[in-house]
Amino acid sequence: MSRLSVKLPGLELKNPIMPASGCFGYGEGFADKYDLSILGALVDKSTTVEVRKGNPDPRYFHSGERILNSVGLKNPGVEGVLAEKLPYLAQFDVPIIQSVAGKNVEDYVEATRALSQPENVKAIELNISCPNVKLGGLQFGTDPEVAADLTKQVKAATDLPVYVKLTPNVTDITAIAKAVEGAGADAIVMINTITGQTFDLETRQPILGGVTGGLSGSSVKYVALRMVRQVAQVVDIPIIGVGGIESIDDVLEMIIAGATAVQVGSANYANPMVCKEIIEGLPARMDELNIESIEKLVQEMKMMIKQ
Ligand code: FUM
Repeated sequence: MSRLSVKLPGLELKNPIMPASGCFGYGEGFADKYDLSILGALVDKSTTVEVRKGNPDPRYFHSGERILNSVGLKNPGVEGVLAEKLPYLAQFDVPIIQSVAGKNVEDYVEATRALSQPENVKAIELNISCPNVKLGGLQFGTDPEVAADLTKQVKAATDLPVYVKLTPNVTDITAIAKAVEGAGADAIVMINTITGQTFDLETRQPILGGVTGGLSGSSVKYVALRMVRQVAQVVDIPIIGVGGIESIDDVLEMIIAGATAVQVGSANYANPMVCKEIIEGLPARMDELNIESIEKLVQEMKMMIKQ
């Protein structure tokens, strides 16, 4: 293992950095900027059985580094991803964590079964936290029993590890985390966006076509850090931390909170090179902070958190 590498169930990553689902498409917009093989892993856009056109425009509202999105799970569907997106990504030496969404249990199971087949898909990310769809998404992520039942059924549909992506839009995220761990989840990904809204002063109407949207960007980091630490205190499976990460120090802080690996989301919009810059800059910052290896930091923090 190298200094940067980390282990997740079913995966050994070159480094702990992966772009978050929905902020990197299927890699096409970034592959002309750097070699995607440098990434620890790549999480692609949440994919559903059917092609989805997404919510009406506007789907994004930018305010400085804060973003509200109401994409509505726009994606080319399982067939499109199997025919074009995953074969395209196969040219890179990077494990794909395939994000899966659905409007009901059967959809999640069908999408998982189909998308588990390609050689480059090494894990499933179960999205039970999209705030922008009427059916599915949050409906599965806010009740521990419902989340556990879906996790069980998706686990039964694949031989790959299943990482469950949680929503912060709950009173007690630890209850959901414990429920999905009990149902066999191999890791937890947290957090998805926080539901928000914005209004036009002239029309007095909501700006986003989907009315509400998911808030991401640097301010979300502090919510994510708090929740990752809370969940790390009560589960034994690894956590992949996501929410407002945009720098090397953010990555290290997320690992200190209790994460094993880290996803970079909306920072990719402002700086498409951000993942590469973080990966390249990590060793020098680790030297400054006397961090011998990421894996060692992960283990030290796990022990400290559980004491
Ligand atoms: O609207 C969207 O596609 C967002 C998805 C998500 O936050 O999981």
